Amino acid sequence: MIAVVGSLNLDLIVPVPHHPVPGETVLGGDIVQHPGGKGANQAVAAARLGGDVAFVGRVGDDDAADVLVGAARAQGVDTTHILRTESVPTGRALIAVNPDGENSIIVSPGANSRLTAADCEKAASPLAAAKVTVLQQEVPDAANHAAARLAGGLVLYNPAPAVEGAVPPSKVDLLVPNRTELAALTDTPEARTVDEIIAAARKLTGAGAVVVTLGGDGVLLLEGTSSLHIPAFRVTPTDTTGAGDSFCGALAVALAEDRTLEQAARWACAAAAISTTRTGAQPSAPSRDEVEEFLTARS
Ligand code: RIB
Ligand code: NA
Repeated sequence: MIAVVGSLNLDLIVPVPHHPVPGETVLGGDIVQHPGGKGANQAVAAARLGGDVAFVGRVGDDDAADVLVGAARAQGVDTTHILRTESVPTGRALIAVNPDGENSIIVSPGANSRLTAADCEKAASPLAAAKVTVLQQEVPDAANHAAARLAGGLVLYNPAPAVEGAVPPSKVDLLVPNRTELAALTDTPEARTVDEIIAAARKLTGAGAVVVTLGGDGVLLLEGTSSLHIPAFRVTPTDTTGAGDSFCGALAVALAEDRTLEQAARWACAAAAISTTRTGAQPSAPSRDEVEEFLTARS
């Protein structure tokens, strides 16, 4: 079983010719609305790949709450531990996507920011039973710390988005930052070369292993003193939103199935690559069959 603790956001996505600079108004295309939020995206990504997933989070008391809980449940996610919050809006994300598929995102956390350590304690039994517990940075540190403490299995921590002052739990088995998040965690400028990434990742004490996601450059695995670069699968991205979430969800599924970190990371790279070829975070997460077909076609 996999436990995911984290955010649920309703994503409002607008295609734009370019991202606006301060003071600029950009006329975009038609808006689309999709279920999102890093936590919910990772839970749905894992469920679509065959994972048995329980989710812990908070929504508000509005229509968006029903949409998000319904979407997660429809994908087979156990939504018993999603709590309602009175008089608070459900999380929302305002997402602009340019023609290269690059996004810029404003998140209004709403109910996500009300998730507490006590909420996680109410979910103590799925957390204790989970082979992998997956956490991100769109809910308060206190909730993440409690979840990590209650986790009976591996703790996978995705320090996304890079939040200034965020403190990861003290016990993390697998840390999965991207380049920006690695820079934020280590208080260093963004690493450019593989050697710089390795040097920065080595500063991360308290994590069993580190997987740095590099977008189109693949991922870098660091375990003990060894490091391994896994190149990305070549695809033409249309929307990279949620690619990191697909990666984390897939990684959790593969690790829960006792694959090695290297096998899990390669498989997760395939899931992430497929997700970038489609629009929306949750809708773009591939099924297990799609990942297997993709890998067969490329072997
Ligand atoms: O990682 C992508 C997610 O980040 C989006 O779904 C959006 O909700 C933001 O949380
Ligand atoms: Na996508």
